[in-house]
Amino acid sequence: MSNKTLAIIKPDATAKNVSGEIIAAIQQAGFRILGMKLTKISPEVAGEFYAVHKERPFYGELIAYMTSGTIVPLALQKDNAVEEFRKLIGATDPKKAEAGTIRARFGTGIEANAIHGSDSDENALREIGFFFPESEIVAVNK
Ligand code: RTP
Ligand code: MG
Repeated sequence: MSNKTLAIIKPDATAKNVSGEIIAAIQQAGFRILGMKLTKISPEVAGEFYAVHKERPFYGELIAYMTSGTIVPLALQKDNAVEEFRKLIGATDPKKAEAGTIRARFGTGIEANAIHGSDSDENALREIGFFFPESEIVAVNK
């Protein structure tokens, strides 16, 4: 079991200026930040990141949405990180997300759901490598 996951604060959340509140919730839940940046990605880069969703009906919209504003990718560490983080963010649709989860608190729709979380250990490592080449990930300072 890996202890890392990748989060992305999405354009709807950065536009609402709530990145700090989201990062506070992540840290309060016991995740340590190994890497963090504020960036904007091109459709080509977004397409590569979301290649697994290429055949899904919402793919085109998802790429347009994820390139519509700034995003904050975060490489995170905690025991059982992938599962724990998905519990913290809640269901994809904020209306169905449990009260208190990040998507319930900050998401506004099934697409504009404030935050991404890796869905498996394998994808977590791929996604961390995508946004943070290995040299950028510093050791955790306890
Ligand atoms: P994520 O990858 O962002 O953590 O979200 P997830 O696992 O909960 O959901 P996933 O099925 O992987 O979908 C990726 C993102 O695509 C957008 N989406 N739009 N219009 C739609 O029906 C629809 N469904 C999903 C969301 O932004 C979702 O987080
Ligand atoms: Mg997903």
